[in-house]
Amino acid sequence: MEKAAIDALLKEMQAPTRGEPTPRVKAIVDRIVRDLFYVIDEYDVEPSEFWSAVNYLTQAGRNDEYGLIAAGLGFERFLDVRLDAAEEAAGLTGGTPRTIEGPLYVAGAPLCKGEARLDDGSEEGEILIMHGQVRDTDGRPVAGAHVEVWHANTRGNYSFFDKSQSPFNLRRTIETDAEGRYRFRTTMPSGYAVPPEGSTDTLLKQLGRHGHRPAHIHFFVSAPGYRKLTTQINIDGDPYLHDDFAFATRDGLIPAVERNQDPDAIAEAGLNAPFARIAFDFELRSEAVALPSAEVQRPRAEAA
Ligand code: BEZ
Ligand code: FE
Repeated sequence: MEKAAIDALLKEMQAPTRGEPTPRVKAIVDRIVRDLFYVIDEYDVEPSEFWSAVNYLTQAGRNDEYGLIAAGLGFERFLDVRLDAAEEAAGLTGGTPRTIEGPLYVAGAPLCKGEARLDDGSEEGEILIMHGQVRDTDGRPVAGAHVEVWHANTRGNYSFFDKSQSPFNLRRTIETDAEGRYRFRTTMPSGYAVPPEGSTDTLLKQLGRHGHRPAHIHFFVSAPGYRKLTTQINIDGDPYLHDDFAFATRDGLIPAVERNQDPDAIAEAGLNAPFARIAFDFELRSEAVALPSAEVQRPRAEAA
């Protein structure tokens, strides 16, 4: 079609006919519709293809997969890149890199002081001890910080979403001690994969992509006066380490995994089997005015 004809149609269709529009919503929706008109025209999208896409979106909503699709198409990572840029422009430097939250957090996990055991003992996996310190960007320990931690089990599944797991399995909030330290024992996670043949899987296959993530552990780290940190660490050596469908792998978030077979080290850790150990410190940036909030509002699952 002629560009002038498309633009004339848009002008007619986007003229308000009743009441005052909400300017921001109107501007964004008008822009999206305009861009889609041009995509339909440029790719000569047939009516059947258009309705197939509408049906796909309906089904993706029914499957509750928009959180996965947003990550898989890179939107979640893009929002992080924009937050990073805003902080850099405001002169905030240092701090642990942020990376995506993903859609599998559940609010309400038990609060523990200083240390916690995350697993309910139902799986045979490798024991993992992870510990470290929360500090500010000047190296001062942050006592009383909340380290919210959640991760998948040995099959790559998350409690709450996987109803075979006990409530809050592999999920805790740990309050740092007087030296800003936290420590937990858990079971080494496996990487997540999107539901086979689901909406995200179907789309990714058509894009010539897979839906796997490397094994990882999620964190929210927060304390009054600091910007909330949303991040993850990846388990080194995972085949998908640099091939994450959600684009969340970042330098600085791949700590060394130390494997301990030595009986003395095992006894010293209070265990009776070989274990893996990860030491990882978090560095929080101070809160600053006139920055987009690091406390992202999004629908989240909540369990009692
Ligand atoms: C995850 O963290 O496991 C995840 C992230 C994005 C999409 C799906 C899962
Ligand atoms: Fe995850």
